[in-house]
Amino acid sequence: MITYNREAKTWKLDTPHTSYVMGLVDGKYLAHIYYGASISDGNLTYLVRANENPFVPSQNPAEKQGFLDVCPMEYPACGTGDFRQGAISVENVCGQEGLELVYKCQMIVAGKPPIPGLPASFDTKAGDEKQASSCDTLVITLEDPLLGVEVDVLYTPFDDVDVIARSVVVRNKGREPLHLTRVLSACLDVGGEGGEELLTLYGTWAREHQIERRPVTHGGEVVEALRGESGHDSQPFMALLSEHASYESGRVYALQLVYSGDLMGHVKENAFDSIRMVMGIHPEHFAWKLMPGEAFYAPEAVLTFSDQGLGNMSRTLHDFDRTHLIRSKWKFAKRPVLINNWEATYFDFTAEKLLQIAQEASKAGIDMLVCDDGWFGHNRNQPSGSLGDWFVNEAKMEGGLAHLDAELRKLHMRLGLWFEPEMISVDSDLYRAHPDWVLQLKGRTPSLCRDQYVLDFSNPAVIRYLIDSIEKVLRSAPIAYIKWDMNRPLSDVGSNYLPADQQKEIWHRHVLGIYKIQETLLCDFPDLLIENCSSGGARFDAGMLYYSPQIWCSDDMDPIERAMIHEGTELIYPVSAMGSHICKTPNDITGRNVPFRTRAFSAMIGTFGYELDITKLPGEERALIREQVAFYKKVMQPLVLEGDYYRLESLRINGAFDAQMLVSKNKREAVVFFLQGLARPNTKSRLLRLQGLDPLRNYRIEEVKFGSDSEGNSSDWMDGPVLGGMDGAVLTGDTLMHAGILIEHARIDFWSTMVHLKS
Ligand code: GLA
Repeated sequence: MITYNREAKTWKLDTPHTSYVMGLVDGKYLAHIYYGASISDGNLTYLVRANENPFVPSQNPAEKQGFLDVCPMEYPACGTGDFRQGAISVENVCGQEGLELVYKCQMIVAGKPPIPGLPASFDTKAGDEKQASSCDTLVITLEDPLLGVEVDVLYTPFDDVDVIARSVVVRNKGREPLHLTRVLSACLDVGGEGGEELLTLYGTWAREHQIERRPVTHGGEVVEALRGESGHDSQPFMALLSEHASYESGRVYALQLVYSGDLMGHVKENAFDSIRMVMGIHPEHFAWKLMPGEAFYAPEAVLTFSDQGLGNMSRTLHDFDRTHLIRSKWKFAKRPVLINNWEATYFDFTAEKLLQIAQEASKAGIDMLVCDDGWFGHNRNQPSGSLGDWFVNEAKMEGGLAHLDAELRKLHMRLGLWFEPEMISVDSDLYRAHPDWVLQLKGRTPSLCRDQYVLDFSNPAVIRYLIDSIEKVLRSAPIAYIKWDMNRPLSDVGSNYLPADQQKEIWHRHVLGIYKIQETLLCDFPDLLIENCSSGGARFDAGMLYYSPQIWCSDDMDPIERAMIHEGTELIYPVSAMGSHICKTPNDITGRNVPFRTRAFSAMIGTFGYELDITKLPGEERALIREQVAFYKKVMQPLVLEGDYYRLESLRINGAFDAQMLVSKNKREAVVFFLQGLARPNTKSRLLRLQGLDPLRNYRIEEVKFGSDSEGNSSDWMDGPVLGGMDGAVLTGDTLMHAGILIEHARIDFWSTMVHLKS
C-alpha cells in the first residue's frame, strides 16, 4: 500500500510486516526517513534531523555542501557535494560530471509496470497465476533542469510479501547528448546502531555461494562482479545485519539486484553513524550515450527487511521469487527428473550410447535425457571446436535429434539439449564466416579461455543469427528443455560494430542480448523449460531466474561441498531453483566417496536429477534409483516447489553436521535432511530442534529408507543414524520444535538421514 501525505510531502510504503517512509526535505530533496517493522505514522520527517547543524540549504546556504553530504538521500547524485557513494553520474558535452536532483512530481500507477528489455518482478497474486495482486507503483520524478535530466525512481511495495521492488529510468530531456557514467538501482541510508555486519556470498568454480560475514566499517565494504556476468566470485546480493543476527533473530536489510552482468554493492558507515548501501550495474565498465529524447532503464533492485533474522529473510525472498519473479509456466509445475550425460560420458558419446543410458533411466522412472555438450558442429569432441555451429553432428548423433526424440518417446522420456550461445570457437564455420563477430580490442589477439572467444552481443546481426539457429534446432525436434551454458568471462571487450564513444556500452548490451534471446525463445516456445548455467553456478542470479525456473548450481556435486554451496544458495533463492544431481562416486572433482543415500538426499533438496552412467551401476543401486525417483516425485517435489525452507544447523558453522527442513505451506507435511560430516568417536546423538511446524498438530515421524526387504532391513540404511527409538512415533509440533528429535551418531563418514513428518 502507498500512502501519500500531500501536506507533509511524505510517502509511506507498506508491505504486510514492514513500512518504508520517505519525504521531501527543504521542499525539494527526496530523503529516506524510515525502513523497518510496520509502523502507523507516516509523517516522521523529524528523523532526518534537518533542524540540526548544518541545517537545510534554505536556512543555511553557506553549508549546502555539508547538508548534501549528510542528508539520507533516496537517489543521491554525484559531483555536487555528497561525497558518499552516489547513485547517478552524468557527463555533459563539455566533459563535466555533476548533477543535482530535485523533486519534480509524483504519480501512483496501478500494478507493476514492466521494464523494457530487462527482467523484472510482476504483480501476480500469491498462488493465483491469473489474478493480479492489488499492489501499486509509486513513481517519483526528480530533475536537474540545467542538464535536462529527468529521473524516475519507482517503488512497488508488494501486498502479499515483505518486498519493495525499486527501479530507475533516466531521460534526456535536453538538446545535447549525455553520457551516463553511473546509474545504480537503489540506495538505502539507514541509521547505524553499532556492531552491524555485512553478509555477502563469494565463491569460485566448484565452490559457489559461500557465505561471508564481516563488520561494516568506516572504510567501506564492497561486493562486485567485473567479469561480464554476475559470476562465481560474488552474488548480486548483500545484507546488513544487526549485531549477532542469526537465522532466527536479529534485524536484516537485504538488497538484491535483478541483473546478470557486472554489478557493484557498496556499504559504508559515515562519521555520523549513518550507513549507506548502494547497488547497481558496476560503474567501472559502464557508460551509456543518451541522445535527446531517449531513456535508459536500470535493472530492478529488490529490498526486504526482517526483524526475525536471516531465516525469515530467506522465506520472504523465496516466496517473492516463486510468486513475483519467475515467469516460467514451470515454476510450480512438476519438473522432469532428468539424467544428464556430462559426467557419464563427457564428449565421448553417440546417440546409441545416450539411448543405452535412457533405457536404464526409463526403468527407474526418470523423465528426461539431457544431451550435454558435444552434439553439434563438426568437431566437438573436446572443448576447442564448433561453438557457434548450432546444427547437429550427424556422425555422432546418427538419425539426428528427431530420431533420438522418437526413441525417447518410446521410453516415455523427453529430450533436453545443451547450448552455449554466447561463445565461438576459432575452429568453427561461424568464425570462418564472421571473425569480426568476436569481442576484441583493435590490434590485440583476444585471450582464449576454455579455448573459446565471446561473441559481440552489441551487434544485432549476432543476436539474429543465434535466435534463428537455436530456433531451427528447436523446430527440428520437439526439444522440451535447454541448458544454456556460459563457460568463460568477458575479456578484450571491444566491438567492431559500435562507434568509439559507445564501446563502454558493450558490457550492458551483452546482458541485454542474453535477455533478448531468452525472451524470444520463451515467446516462440512457451512450453520450453530453460535451465541456465555458467561453468556451474557463475550466473545464478535473480535476472536469470526470470527466464529459467531452475539454474545449475555448481559442477561440484559432492554433497559435502554442496552442503556449503546449498546453504549460500538457499539463503536467497528458492530450493526449487537449485539444479542438483546425484553424481558418481568417487566424485570427479573432489575424489571423495560419499554413500549413495547421501548423494540422493542432498540432490533431492533441489530440482533433482542424475549425472552418472546408470548402465555402469551395480544392479542393487539401479533398484534404489527407482525408489529414490518415486519418493522424490511423491513426497519431495511438492515440498521443494511450494514449501517453506528452514535452516536448522550448518556444517559450515559447527564443522560436524548440517540440517535443514522443508515444510508444506499448510504445515501438514515436512522433511528434515540431516547430514553428518566426518564420523567422530565417542560422541552423543545430535539434538535437532525443528522449526516451522504447527505447534498443536500431531506428526508421525518416519525415517526414509530405500531398499528395505520384507523384514524391514534396508540395504541402503543398515548402520546409519537412526532416530533414537523415535521411528514411527507421533509427537506434537510444539514438542518437535522445543524439545526436538535425536539423530544417533553413525560410524560412517558423510552419512545422512531424511525424516518424513506427516500430520
Ligand atoms: C559447464 C557446465 C557443465 C557442463 C560443461 C559442458 O562446465 O557447468 O555442467 O555442461 O560446461 O562443457
